[in-house]
Amino acid sequence: MGVFQLIYTSRPFGYDLNVLANILATSRSRNARDDITGALICRADVFLQLLEGPKGKVQATYERICDDDRHVEVTQLVAEDVPDRLFPDWAMKHDPAVSWMWSPVEVHMGALQSASALAIREIFVRSAVS
Ligand SMILES: Cc1cc2nc3c(=O)[nH]c(=O)nc-3n(C[C@H](O)[C@H](O)[C@H](O)COP(=O)(O)O)c2cc1C
Repeated sequence: MGVFQLIYTSRPFGYDLNVLANILATSRSRNARDDITGALICRADVFLQLLEGPKGKVQATYERICDDDRHVEVTQLVAEDVPDRLFPDWAMKHDPAVSWMWSPVEVHMGALQSASALAIREIFVRSAVS
């Protein structure tokens, strides 16, 4: 049975470790309840998140996330049915993006918005095995 996968990017607003810890704690308890798994790649200049699970639950979660004032410029990058989960064991994996490929300048210039769905998914494939 397939799952719905949604990937978006946004820009943190008021980012610090406390805020991040709160986001992750909420995400993990809500996602466990909603059968959602995924990963949140975080850097001071960018969030990149993958959500996967039942379509209605993922869309409802994304709507709440879009309304969240801890980030701005939320932009959906990928939304489609996929055969398998990439993060079956993670209610929300935290990936601090230490070995990440786009510099803050490139991200600022819109590298994520102009990347292909394949390139975006590749980031998470790498995150899933690290
Ligand atoms: C970057 C970011 C990622 C988030 N990821 C999730 C998530 O995976 N699941 C989730 O339920 N909420 C997530 N949230 C939190 C939601 O925006 C929202 O605060 C939370 O779901 C509680 O919603 P409620 O107050 O309407 O009940 C995230 C928020 C941000 C800023």
